[in-house]
Formats: sequence, C-alpha cells, structure tokens
Amino acid sequence: MAFDKKFNPDELKQFLKSKYGPGVQVEIFPKADQDPTDEGEEQAERRSRALRFDYKPSQIKECLDRYVIEQSDAKKVLATAICDHYHHIQGCQGEEDCRDYKKQNIILVGPTGVGKTYLIQNIARLIGVPFVKADATKYSETGYVGGDVEDLIRELVHQADGDIQLGECGIVYLDEIDKIATHTSGMGRDVSGHGVQRGLLKLMEETEVPLRSPTDIASQMQAFMDFQSKGEVEKKTISTKHILFIVSGAFTGLSDLIKKRLGSKQIGFTGTGSSAEQEHYLYERVKSVDFIDYGFEAEFIGRLPVVMHCNPLSVQDLFKILKYSEGSLLKQYKKDFLAYDIDVYFTDEGMQGIAREAETEETGARGLMTVCERIFREYKYQLPDHDVKEFIVGQEMTENPLEKLKSLLEDPTQYQSKVVEFQLGKIEQELSDRYGIEIAFTAEASQCIAKKAKEVDADLLSYSADLLKKFEHGLNLLRKNSKKKKFLIDEDFVLDPADTVERWIRETYQ
Ligand SMILES: Nc1ncnc2c1ncn2[C@@H]1O[C@H](COP(=O)(O)OP(=O)(O)OP(=O)(O)O)[C@@H](O)[C@H]1O
Ligand SMILES: [Mg+2]
Repeated sequence: MAFDKKFNPDELKQFLKSKYGPGVQVEIFPKADQDPTDEGEEQAERRSRALRFDYKPSQIKECLDRYVIEQSDAKKVLATAICDHYHHIQGCQGEEDCRDYKKQNIILVGPTGVGKTYLIQNIARLIGVPFVKADATKYSETGYVGGDVEDLIRELVHQADGDIQLGECGIVYLDEIDKIATHTSGMGRDVSGHGVQRGLLKLMEETEVPLRSPTDIASQMQAFMDFQSKGEVEKKTISTKHILFIVSGAFTGLSDLIKKRLGSKQIGFTGTGSSAEQEHYLYERVKSVDFIDYGFEAEFIGRLPVVMHCNPLSVQDLFKILKYSEGSLLKQYKKDFLAYDIDVYFTDEGMQGIAREAETEETGARGLMTVCERIFREYKYQLPDHDVKEFIVGQEMTENPLEKLKSLLEDPTQYQSKVVEFQLGKIEQELSDRYGIEIAFTAEASQCIAKKAKEVDADLLSYSADLLKKFEHGLNLLRKNSKKKKFLIDEDFVLDPADTVERWIRETYQ
C-alpha cells in the first residue's frame, strides 16, 4: 500500500480511534520530511515570543501576586529560579559554551490546597512556554498502558504544536511526587516508586527522547508513511537539556524527620509557636538528607537543587483569596448566578464567614469551594425558578443559608434597596483608598444615581465610577487644598457634577 503526500493526518487519527477505541493515544507529529526552515511564520513567532524572556524576578513575583495570595518566599524563590533558567536558555541560543550549566530543577513542598499547582500554572501562562502537568502516581502503577515518563517530554512538543525547539524549553510539572518515595515496609522495598525515580533521573538531567513513541501506534504508522514517501525514516529526538522540572507534593511526615534530625540543635526555636509557624521553621531548614530519609534516591533529590515550600493558609489568607485574588472563586459564583440574571454581592462579613468555615475543612483553599457549594447548593437550584433578581451574602447567610433562602423566597425584593447602598458603600471605600478623602452619598444622591444608571442601562458601580472619574482631578485638588476630609456627595453633584466640584473648590479658598 502506497501513501501519497496529500495524506490527511486527521483521517488517520479518526481511523485509529474508531479501530482501537477512544482509549488509544493518537498523536501525529509533524511530518519527518518537513524541514525546520519551512515551518510556518506563526510557529516561529510563537517560539521567539516565548524565548524573548526579559523579566526580572520582582516582575514575575508582581504578576504572581495578582493571583496567588501569600506564599511570598515561594514566589521569590520560584521567580528567581525561572529567571535564571530562561536567561540561561537565551544565552545558549546558537552557542556551545553552556555545557557546564547546572539546571535549577525545583522541588515544592507544602500541604494540600495552598497554591503549589496554582503557582506553577500561573508562571507557565505568564512566560508562554509549553507546560505539562502530570501526577507521578500515574507512573507508579504497574501495568500502566500507553507510555512511560518519556511521554511527558513528547507531550511538551505536542503542546508546542509540534515545534521541537520550543518543546525543548518547556516546563514539566510532576505533582504527588511524594507518592513515589520508596518506603521500606515488611514487604521489602517499594519497587515501582524506585523505578519511576530512576526513569526520571536521566530525563531531569540531559537525555534524548525519541519524538515517536515506540508504543504509540499512530507514531509508528507515521514513521512507516515517511518511509514510504521518503524511502528512509528520519530519526528525531527531543533533548531534555533545557526542560525545567518542577516536582511537588504534600510530603506528610517530612517535618517530623527534619525535627528529629535537628533534635536538640533547634537553636532559636522554642517550639511554642502555632503549628503553621513550627512547620515554617522546620521547612526553612530542610536538607537533602531529609528527603533521602523520606524515601528518595540521593541521585534523584540531588537533581532538584531548588527547594521551596508553601505555608498553610490562615482564615485571613483565605479571606484575602476570596476578596483579592484575580482567580477568586467568587467570580465563578457570580457568573453562575448571572446566567439566571441574578446579581450576587459578597460583603466582607460574608467572605469572612466562608473563610472561617473553609479553614475547618483543613484542605487549604480547596475548602472554600467545599463551603461555597454547601452554602449555595440550594440557592442555585431554587432561585432560577423564582423572581429573585439580586441578593447579598452577609455573615448570616453563611451561617444559616437555608433560613435566609426561605426568607428570600418569601420576599424576593428584600435586597433591592440594600444593593444600591452596598454598591455605593464599595465606591466610597474605593475612593477613600484612592484619594485619602472620605466620600459619602446622601440618600437622595443614591436614589438619583440609581435612577440615572437605569436610564442609560448601566450598572450602578460603573455609572458612579464613571461619574466620579471624570472629576478625579477636581477631587484630588480638593483633597490637597481642603482641610476637610469628608465630602458628602449630594443630589446636586449627581445632577451637575462639574458645577458642584467647582463650587466646592471655590469654597476651600474662602
Ligand atoms: N495562595 C493561594 N492564593 C490564591 N488561590 C489559591 C491559593 N492556594 C490555593 N488557591 C486556590 O485553590 C485551588 C487549589 O490549589 P492548588 O491546586 O494550587 O493546590 P496544591 O497546593 O497544588 O494542592 P495539592 O497538594 O492537593 O495538589 C487553586 O486552583 C486556587 O484557586
Ligand atoms: Mg497540586
């Protein structure tokens, strides 16, 4: 059977899937006869964008701060290691003298749900390099069909749309690495974990991985077709030299090992701090030997020179995640309700209530989701069938959600006027943070703004923000000139802001 050059890879994928079932891994890599010089411009641009790395560690941390709350030490260590790594890769472009460079693979330790994976996901998104995440446990299962740890490397090239060079600069993130520690038990050494560690060893340093998996049917078919069309099979490999490995895990019990090692030498540590402080103290002092005692090969841990840890999250941290993180879960809830035209507003007290409950779950920030699901489950089910257009989540709602739901269904408009108050309260806060002046809206002004916003079909928040923004300069002048720190936004201001601000300024000079 001969294949002509117009062969369509999608057809082959379809055929193999229908023949072997959806469980079969089907990946078609670029044709071997495709010369790197005739690659698409788009692909070249993507690679050069990813490799045009010009961040400083503080800039990376700043970006991470927008999403990841706390974990300041981890963010600093990670940002610095990432900058070193990618600056090095840049320096190596076309040069041969970077043979002695030691890769700064990272090991990330911390309890569940405190932002380990989240940190790495955000950093990969920021840099724009191919990123592959997998659980190490996947590779410890005996009888795992379809591939081995080398598949991770091939997946990077897949993520890079077949661009081998770009794939070779990617990040491999292996979660649950603590699960491949080899614990000595009555049954002897846990061989599967040992095998995976050995498999990862060579990848973490430098090796060549064949682009086509010997166990993947589609890849082999592709090789066969190349042979048919070109008369030879071109051997393509992926070098792991510049691939950054980040492994992470909860490492339950590791702190006990550190404590035991430190023994009486725990200078400066009284042992009376909170459990979070104690853990922090111990993890600051973690050494390779602790990981070896935990069940890792010395060669394995030696290839992960950067150790960082994430701390447990307090109630206040959980509150901040809800309130300030750009990836806050509450955004998702707002969207969910908005799908039924229901506006939901969260007060600080409400968010504190959720955070307090979440902490008792002991699953870090994941507890926030558990608690929100519990509180809002019935709301999500029942509200779409009723005439509720808005509601505010306060402390009471987080403590007695079902009772509050009942009262809401009995009086669906009970939050209508409170929503206006609540939103304007937020604006007052924002302005006082921004200009250092206290602003309060009179009741008439609030009503007037609500009416005007409705007329132009705008929401209250954006309407008032626009209104005040136009007079930002005037308000700033007022703050500077006036001894008065509190301003009352009245109906006059809403109806004729320019005139009112001018009058206020004139008054300050009198
Ligand atoms: N410090 C944080 N700041 C903001 N959001 C966070 C933080 N920690 C966790 N989250 C939120 O919780 C979710 C789960 O966190 P993540 O996946 O990072 O946990 P993890 O530390 O990797 O835990 P595990 O060990 O169980 O894998 C994230 O998707 C994110 O939304
Ligand atoms: Mg994780």
